[in-house]
Amino acid sequence: MDISSKLSTRTRMMQASAIREILKVVAQPGMVSLAGGIPAPESFPIEIIRQITNDVLDEFGPAALQYDKTEGFEPLIQALVNYLPSRGLVNVAPETLGVFSGSQSALDMVAKVLISPGDKIAIEAPSYLGAISAFNAYEPDYISVPTDDDGILPDALEDVLKQHTIKLIYLVPTFQNPTGRTLSLERRQRVAELLKQYDVLLLEDDPYSALRYSGEALPTLQSYAPEHVIYSSTFSKILAPGLRIGFTVAPKALMRWLIIAKQGVDLHTQSFGQAIAALYLTGGYLKDHLPRIIELYQPRRDAMLTALQTHMPEGFTWTHPEGGMFLWLVGPEGFDAEALYHRCVERGVAFVPGKYFFFEPGVGQNTMRLNFTMVTGDVIDQAIQTIGETAAGMLVTS
Ligand SMILES: Cc1ncc(COP(=O)(O)O)c(C=O)c1O
Repeated sequence: MDISSKLSTRTRMMQASAIREILKVVAQPGMVSLAGGIPAPESFPIEIIRQITNDVLDEFGPAALQYDKTEGFEPLIQALVNYLPSRGLVNVAPETLGVFSGSQSALDMVAKVLISPGDKIAIEAPSYLGAISAFNAYEPDYISVPTDDDGILPDALEDVLKQHTIKLIYLVPTFQNPTGRTLSLERRQRVAELLKQYDVLLLEDDPYSALRYSGEALPTLQSYAPEHVIYSSTFSKILAPGLRIGFTVAPKALMRWLIIAKQGVDLHTQSFGQAIAALYLTGGYLKDHLPRIIELYQPRRDAMLTALQTHMPEGFTWTHPEGGMFLWLVGPEGFDAEALYHRCVERGVAFVPGKYFFFEPGVGQNTMRLNFTMVTGDVIDQAIQTIGETAAGMLVTS
C-alpha cells in the first residue's frame, strides 16, 4: 500500500528532526558530543528518587497507581501552587494550573487548542525546533522575528503585530535553546506591553530558568501579563526528563480548554511520576538538589567560555549565557558551519550546525549550537581546541 497517499495534510507538514539524525551520528563510540541537549546523567538524584519512591507508596498507596483527573495529581497541584510564586509566577491557582506529559506535550496542547490551518505564529529566529515540530501538526504559518544578544527585538515584534494577525507568539525568554540568550528586563516589559496593546497570546516556554549560574533572576513575562501569557516549564532539567512531568500556568478560561484537549490525548499525565515530583517539592529535595546540579554545570559553562577564548580563531563570536545548557557560536560571514561539523565529526567532536534552528532556508549557515552540560571541563577544552583548529584551517584555505 502507498501509505504516503493516505496521510492527512497535517501529517504531510511533519518532518523528521534533522537534529535527531545528527544525534544518531554522534552516538558513535568515542565521539565527544557537544550536540545533545539533555541533562548529564550524573545530575539525576538517584538516591533521592529511591527514597521518594518508597514515600510515595507509603503516603499515597493506590492513588499513585490509579487513573486520575486530567488537571493533575492533587498533591502536585498543591505543591506547585506553593512553589511557583518563588519562580516568579503570579495568579497561580488550581484553576490556572495543569500538569502535562513534559512541557513538550503542553506545546502540542496549546497549538491544538489555539491554531487552525493558516493561523499565524510569531517565533524568534533561531528557535527551539521541538516547538515547531509540535505546532506543525496544526498547519500554521510562521512569521519569524529577529533577535540579538538580548533576545527578541520588540520593535520588530511590533512591526509583525501591525502587519499580521498573530494568533500566538512563541518565546523561550530565559537561557534560550539554541542560543543561551536571555530576554532583557526592559524588553520583557516592552513585550508584555505589546501583548496587552495588541491583545495577543504568548507562550513562554521556560525549561531552563532554574539553572542559573550567574547574574540575577529576571521576572517572568507571565508576571507582567498573566492574562496574555501561557507559561510552561518542566521537571526535566531539575529532576529527570524520563519522568515526563511538565506544568503550565494559563488564564483560567484557556486552561479549561487545554484540559479538555488533554483528556482526549492521554487522559492524564502518569500519576506515579507526578507523585514523585510532588514529594520532591514538598520534602525540600529540590531545594537541596538544585544547587548540586548548578555546581555540576557552572564549571562546565565556565570551561567552555575559557576554551573558546583560548582556541577560537579571530572572527568568531559567542554568547555568554548566565545559565541553561547551550551556547551559540557565530563564525565570520560566509563561514560554512555544516562543513566544519563534518570535519569535526571526522576528528571525533560533534555539535549542531545552527542553520537547523532557523525556519527560513539559507539563514544561520555560519552558526553553531554547543551544549556544555554533558561532558567535563577538560573534555570541553579538548573539543573546543579541535573545533578551533579545524575552523582556523578552513579559514586559511577559503
Ligand atoms: C525550549 C524547550 N522547550 C521544551 C522542551 C521539552 O522539555 P520536556 O518535554 O522534557 O519538558 C525542551 C527540551 O529540551 C526545550 O529545550
